Amino acid sequence: MSRPKIALIGGGQIGGNLALLAAQKELGDIVIFDIPKAEGMVKGKALDIMQLRPHDGYDADISGTSNWNDVKDADIFIITAGIPRKPGMNREDLLGINLGIMKDVATNIKEQAPNAFVIVISNPLDAMVYAFHKVAGFSKKMVVGMAGALDSARFRTFIAMETGCSVQDVTCMVLGGHGDTMVPVTRLATVGGVPVEELIPSNRLEKIVNRTRFAGGEIVKLFGNGSAFYAPAQSAIEIAESYLRDKKRVIPCASLCEGEFGVDGYFIGVPSVIGAGGVERILEFELKEDEKAALNNTLEAVKKTVAETGL
Ligand code: NAI
Ligand code: 2OP
Repeated sequence: MSRPKIALIGGGQIGGNLALLAAQKELGDIVIFDIPKAEGMVKGKALDIMQLRPHDGYDADISGTSNWNDVKDADIFIITAGIPRKPGMNREDLLGINLGIMKDVATNIKEQAPNAFVIVISNPLDAMVYAFHKVAGFSKKMVVGMAGALDSARFRTFIAMETGCSVQDVTCMVLGGHGDTMVPVTRLATVGGVPVEELIPSNRLEKIVNRTRFAGGEIVKLFGNGSAFYAPAQSAIEIAESYLRDKKRVIPCASLCEGEFGVDGYFIGVPSVIGAGGVERILEFELKEDEKAALNNTLEAVKKTVAETGL
């Protein structure tokens, strides 16, 4: 059986790290695609990663290109094409430029690999994954947005920092859109199975929830130019690995809801089972009244950004 073919659309900060992580996990052969102006850059990154493989003996071929034919029949696409945030910008400010790019990317992917599984990362995430799905017309099982995996990893990080416990033992879930209205569900957060609401005083927990909501902006401010890339890349690789290895991991992903959690026709962060069938299932559960209100609030924000796409 030949190795899976992984196409990374956009070879910038996240794209480069995706290539590195995918190679190190031996997920498959990797093609990094970018615009012609950036072709040298992605060819260079590909060659650089090829040359680190001998140290640990990773078997993966990595190449760079600006030719859509080179991603033909890829099994999986991870899209970061677009521009990232600059200080003072929110994710929605990126809509105008990134929407045009996403339409072009969706049209080309449909032509080159109509059966692929697609992970969208470009911002504003909830609108970009919606736009991809509308333009490409793929099955809802084959399209997800990466955001909840990252936001939940951030929530886990801050809880581990607060409690002094291993991040490995912190479990939690962030639902909703990838914006300031996202919903870190404190009721479901645990450290080694112990509810965090019993471990962390409510005023401290509230601070952690807020830090999670604005965690992307915190990094944008520190960088001064561009947004986070290490953790976003790792978060998308978890989704990719679960698909390619049929792991059936439960990962908060922006999946198309058709009634789940009272959401109809929008991609929003919900616990999703990712396996060989793509988004195989959404794990729905009863929300408390305050959680329902928070989810409605984030849904309104998502609807507003999606409406601006005109799709
Ligand atoms: P970057 O600027 O380093 O890379 C973007 C790449 O896209 C560039 O190399 C650019 O040349 C390329 N590109 C532009 N138009 C293209 C096209 N038509 N086809 C192919 N490639 C094209 O940006 P970075 O840091 O990698 O971020 C990428 C995107 O991911 C941004 O929109 C950012 O806001 C978003 N992001 C999303 C997160 C999430 O949780 N969903 C987290 C962090 C970033
Ligand atoms: C992040 O959350 C900016 O969406 C990007 O880091």
